[in-house]
Order: sequence, then structure tokens, then C-alpha cells
Amino acid sequence: ARLGVLISGRGSNMLALAEAAQAPDCPYAIALVASNDPDAAGLATARAMGIPTWAHSHKGLKRAEFDALVDTALRDAGVEYVALAGYMRLLSGEFVGGWAGRMVNIHPSLLPKYKGLDTHARAIAAGDPVHGVSVHIVTAELDDGPVLAQAEVPILPGDTPETLATRLLIEEHRLYPATLAEFVRNAQFRSRPGA
Ligand code: GRF
Repeated sequence: ARLGVLISGRGSNMLALAEAAQAPDCPYAIALVASNDPDAAGLATARAMGIPTWAHSHKGLKRAEFDALVDTALRDAGVEYVALAGYMRLLSGEFVGGWAGRMVNIHPSLLPKYKGLDTHARAIAAGDPVHGVSVHIVTAELDDGPVLAQAEVPILPGDTPETLATRLLIEEHRLYPATLAEFVRNAQFRSRPGA
């Protein structure tokens, strides 16, 4: 299946997906990495791997206008599934509706806890013993939608948001490719002729 990955920054989860896609039995290939920030570091990472990229700044555009540009880029690339990977834009209802059931996100918390930003700092401030990451299907509400998989890490004495984020990122890079592969396999099974 052809996967589109939306990023806004570093793109380390995109890289984990791209590396996993090189395995012969991986059910997805990355058809396009797209960004709302032409300077996103992950775009250079994708280009270095020979993956097509698309970038357009969202600045000065209405949300739905910008999302329509992204949508066109994805569809022109023949994208069938979308993975959000550090994509720091709220999505319009039209865009979400157009990819219903075919778009997933990775969020650094044990959802439904800590939707939104600063999840690592909030988990530490709350005195939680564990923190984690969730992969979920994208619906209209931010960081909502059915959770497909989660992974946990301990919060250790002396942790800062940075040390905790570093520990969690290792789990993100394992969880996202594995969950996405299972999601795509299941989706293809559900949509097979005669199903
Ligand atoms: C990750 O922590 C991801 O869970 C969150 O944003 C961060 C993106 O990092 N949604 P990267 O761009 O994938 O390195």
C-alpha cells in the first residue's frame, strides 16, 4: 500500500517508518513525505533516502485551503494511507473526513491522558510512575480516536521532560512501524473483494 507521511520537524518517526518499509514483507511503501514547513529537517532525511517530498508553508492560508493543497499532493502521489508523524497542525474536518479510517497518528502519552502539547512535562508534574506513547486512528477531535497500540516507559527519579522524551522516543520508533504494518494489513483484509 502507498503511504503518505506528514511531518513538521525532525522526522525521526518518519525515518523509522521508512526504514521498516525496506523489509520485503512490509505492507506499505512511503510514496510521499509532506510538510507544512519547507525547512523541516525530516524533508532532507526523506530526500536522502530517495523518497519524494512535498512542502508548502501554511502561513497566510486558511486551514481548509492549506489542507486542500496537502490533500491534492497526497492524492497525486497515489497515497492510500496517511501517517501523521510529528505533524503540528490541527486538521480541518474536510481533510479528516476524506481520510476517515485511513489515517493514523502517534502521540506521546498514554491516551486518553495528556492530549495536546507538553505531554512529558505534564506526566512528570502529575507524579505518574509511567509514561507512554499511543498510536491511534485520527478523528475530528485532537488526539482522539480509537487507540491501536500503546507502549509504556517508567518515569525515573530526576527525569526531565528531555530525558523522558528520549527514553520514550526509542519506544515510538518500535511501536509506529509495527502498528502501521498491522493496521494496513487489517485494512486491506477488510476491503478485499467479497469481504
Ligand atoms: C514525537 O514525539 C511524536 O510522538 C509527536 O511528535 C514527535 C515527533 O518527533 N507526535 P519526530 O519528528 O518524529 O522526530
